[in-house]
Amino acid sequence: MEKVLTIANQKGGVGKTTTAVNLGVGLAELEREVLLVDLDPQANATSGLVPDARVRASWVEAGVTTYEAMIGQIELRDIVRAVSRSLFLAPAGTNLVGAEIELVGLAEREKRLGTALTPVHRQYDYILIDTPPSLGLLTLNALVAADSVIIPIQCEYYALEGLSALLATIRRVRDTLNPKLTIGGILLTMFDSRNRLSHEVAQEIRQHFGDQVFRSVIPRNVRISESPSHGLSVLDYESKSAGAQSYRALAAELNQRDSVVLDASANQASPSPVQDTLRKAASKES
Ligand SMILES: Nc1ncnc2c1ncn2[C@@H]1O[C@H](COP(=O)(O)OP(=O)(O)OP(=O)(O)O)[C@@H](O)[C@H]1O
Ligand SMILES: [Mg+2]
Repeated sequence: MEKVLTIANQKGGVGKTTTAVNLGVGLAELEREVLLVDLDPQANATSGLVPDARVRASWVEAGVTTYEAMIGQIELRDIVRAVSRSLFLAPAGTNLVGAEIELVGLAEREKRLGTALTPVHRQYDYILIDTPPSLGLLTLNALVAADSVIIPIQCEYYALEGLSALLATIRRVRDTLNPKLTIGGILLTMFDSRNRLSHEVAQEIRQHFGDQVFRSVIPRNVRISESPSHGLSVLDYESKSAGAQSYRALAAELNQRDSVVLDASANQASPSPVQDTLRKAASKES
């Protein structure tokens, strides 16, 4: 079973944090025990669930954030906070930016998160890791700790940029530090049904990646973008919205199925700019 899921895409603003938070809440609604690990110095998952800035600042002051857990100053279990009955958060602060540099000098620098998670692994049904928009040491740690990767892709042409570098990184991690790593799924986000390009990109990604793409699609939905400023997931903020329903569907889909193995086979038929990008992405380093 895929338990440790890293949500990664080094492209910024594609919906990683939104997915980490709302998928986490969706799985918790299904009565799964979920730990959300905020591994992004922007700490958006933390602020999206804990709106009180003083509380967040107090955690940084007290040294109970993912930064201290990564550099080995504290046990990960000692930074975990309950957000709801089944959802738990390992919060980040902006101090995490220092870890990217400090880790360079530490032993087993790519394995710090995996090692930190080992003692709590059995306590949760799912461990979701939100990562920063880079392929640096923090994201690398999250890939080494994971069973699978969820890749949110915005339904816009330029959203495919950088996908080849991400897939190459995933392969490299799988070939070296973490052989069990699989692609848990590509998630189409910010899908705009009125936009032809959205349909085109979605269709071509499905043609190319087949079953590796989640059936659930996340629509562009204003409730999703409003919810973090209320310190709530969209499921709690506007339970009946299209955004909330789509993340519930994703949680149900994930809960039901097994992970799929990365299939690098390229679809060679009728190249288009999008397919071309995808083919390059899949063939690099394979
Ligand atoms: N489906 C959606 N509909 C509307 N707005 C969305 C949707 N998903 C995300 N957003 C908004 O888009 C912005 C970027 O989303 P998010 O922060 O989840 O991306 P990210 O990949 O985590 O970004 P970063 O790379 O900076 O960490 C946020 O303001 C978020 O509220
Ligand atoms: Mg983010």
